[in-house]
Amino acid sequence: MQQHETDRLETRYPVEPWQVSEKVFLPEGLRESESVFALGNGFIGMRGNLEEQTATGAETIQGSFLNGVFDAEPIVYGESAYGYAKNHETICNVMDAKSLILIADGERLDLGKSRVTEQRRVLDLREGTLDRRLAWATAGGCVLIITMRRLVSLTHANLAATRLMVQCLDGGCTLELLSPLRPAVIAEGDPNDPRNAAGKDRRLLCTRTEAQDNVIAMQQKTKNTGFTVNCAVEHRGEIPFTVEEGEDSVLWHGQLRLKSGDSVILDKSICYTVSGKDEPDAWREALEGCRRAPRFEILADEQRDYLDAFWKRAGIQIEGDDALLQGLRFNLFHLLQSVGRDGRRNIAAKGLTGEGYEGHTFWDTEAYILPVFLYTEPELAKKLLQNRFSILPKARERARVMGHPIGALFPWRTIDGEECSAYFPAGTAQVHIDGDIAHAVWEYWQATRDLDFLAENGAEILIETARLYYDLGFFSSEKGGRFVINCVTGPDEYNVMVNNNVYTNSVAEENLRTAAAAVEILKAERPQTLTALAEKIGLRETEPADWLKAADSMYYPPAQDGIVPQDDGFLERKPWPLDSIPAENHPLLMHYHGLTIYRHMVCKQADLILAMILFGERYTDEEKKKNFAFYDSVTTHDSSLSMAVFSILAAQIGQMQKACDYFLSSARLDLDNIHHNTKDGLHMANMAGTWIGITRGFGGMSIREDTLSFAPSCPPRWKSFAFCVEFRGRSIRVRADQNGASYELLRGEPITVLSYGKPVRLA
Ligand code: BGC
Repeated sequence: MQQHETDRLETRYPVEPWQVSEKVFLPEGLRESESVFALGNGFIGMRGNLEEQTATGAETIQGSFLNGVFDAEPIVYGESAYGYAKNHETICNVMDAKSLILIADGERLDLGKSRVTEQRRVLDLREGTLDRRLAWATAGGCVLIITMRRLVSLTHANLAATRLMVQCLDGGCTLELLSPLRPAVIAEGDPNDPRNAAGKDRRLLCTRTEAQDNVIAMQQKTKNTGFTVNCAVEHRGEIPFTVEEGEDSVLWHGQLRLKSGDSVILDKSICYTVSGKDEPDAWREALEGCRRAPRFEILADEQRDYLDAFWKRAGIQIEGDDALLQGLRFNLFHLLQSVGRDGRRNIAAKGLTGEGYEGHTFWDTEAYILPVFLYTEPELAKKLLQNRFSILPKARERARVMGHPIGALFPWRTIDGEECSAYFPAGTAQVHIDGDIAHAVWEYWQATRDLDFLAENGAEILIETARLYYDLGFFSSEKGGRFVINCVTGPDEYNVMVNNNVYTNSVAEENLRTAAAAVEILKAERPQTLTALAEKIGLRETEPADWLKAADSMYYPPAQDGIVPQDDGFLERKPWPLDSIPAENHPLLMHYHGLTIYRHMVCKQADLILAMILFGERYTDEEKKKNFAFYDSVTTHDSSLSMAVFSILAAQIGQMQKACDYFLSSARLDLDNIHHNTKDGLHMANMAGTWIGITRGFGGMSIREDTLSFAPSCPPRWKSFAFCVEFRGRSIRVRADQNGASYELLRGEPITVLSYGKPVRLA
């Protein structure tokens, strides 16, 4: 363990600018490092499992995933009721193709047993590879240097590849290389941890295997959802081999004699394909795909070029704190690896790095992750929104089940659009999901002015979600005719089924307004599209005026002594001073009954604080400061989505120490396993939160009156920081140091931005 510069935290990985590496193998931390060293490309995800699969004495969680491939089973309720979510969807752990077992003179390489005198694993953020180097002194008296490189191609959705090189330094041996295709070894879920509770039996059945020349292939089918998954692996190298087909596995088996000075290379090209119910299976495509795959060097070059371009576009830089910079880059890298890129797939809460949260997509996508791509890779942000558009029919159905004759209610957690939340108080009740998606649609429109998207997808989402809120709330005579939204759960899952959650009412108000605005835009720019849309969804001409009336009348619980209650009843709940809770009783959700928690004035995560960031213009600095201090004192941060948000508001109100403390914990949350569950996968929303922390927090970025605006402030311990944003076809670089901020237009037409409220022309 090393103490890093930012001095508070202990870290397992040395601070390095462009990589995460490990020199000593820690068996007790293998599962965590398998998440940290995961690779993916938005379709394929591979945990950073050792090629040799296991090491004696170390627990492992094996994992290979295909985004969007899941199985479903009916949820078994002890006591069911009308409208409960019906099915449990779980991402499938598909056949493993990355393994490679080395046997020298009958001794199997095993980090727990073999004499390994040097070992190193490196996740390279610029190369997009996972590299290993081992020196193995075999029992038979031979010294082998083994290097392995793995990549999941960011430029070819279906491809992954590995390269093994073995050099014999001394002695000689018979080396066997075993490359199996085998069903995943399923890890245990934890029935006591709602974040990781899935019944993890085998959801895939092996339906076919094949071995042809140097190619082995396997097909699997999901039990209940009709997915067919194929994987084919071609082996390239000058190694005599045989292939063996078993009942549900297939093996490529190479064997050769090495003597001192010899070296040998084995490349594997891995191709995964998938087809859904009623689609022709893509078996041939997998076989041909691995044969046609570019050579390893070419894939590696393409990977580097792709990442070069990405890092340039993101332009993130912190001078003066390498530990933070490493965390930030690591986070961005993993987001890029996990995000769906084709409009058919979204991004799961744990990306493609583990089975935590069953591979479900939550509000995490729109509230945290999407802005990162919106300002770095707008096309990817669009794909995420198109994915939501594709599940709009299911969201409409769900709204009907939930008693709304009109509108759409997006699922709280899902893979393919169906609501999968079995615990509705902290699930379906979070109707802010509609407003989060609407907010993202509008921000996408503001940042890109993509009229085609607004006309074809965006407006329909905005209208259907606005309709839902209009139907859900009502003008309450109790509240002087104001529009109230009752019995909902806000982002904070420790206060459920409350009235007038400020965050929910804020996103709902915005949604009601933006839906009306979208109708106006289409009326002016695409009248025919609007007519067709109105016909399709039965939009009445009077609806926008109704939405605006509700928005204008939106009710917010009044502040008491400057404290804005998170919801109507928040300040009436029983106080529960955080320092009275034993440290070992966190997270509370694992140690107290929900009702105990819900009756107390305690928060799991940022809620009102998030509203104060997104709708900052509604609050004075004084109000922000007062409420920051108050909510800081009642929030446990038991959710990983919390600290980044607190860091942002702290930076905006000039509380730099607090901002930096929260930011550091958030930036390195997975690298340093701060939530103690990195083994189940990385926390994507938090990872995105750190990018938002740099841009919106320290960078003070927002869109104000249609203009991109910045108000950077550089924490005292940094020399400078910088980032780039894509905005309406421009690329803008923002840099700030202790003396102020500067801006540079890297690409695109001249544009005016606001710097600390003053217009600056960039040309
Ligand atoms: C948080 C939610 C989040 C979910 C998935 C929960 O612990 O409370 O806000 O959406 O995790 O990341």
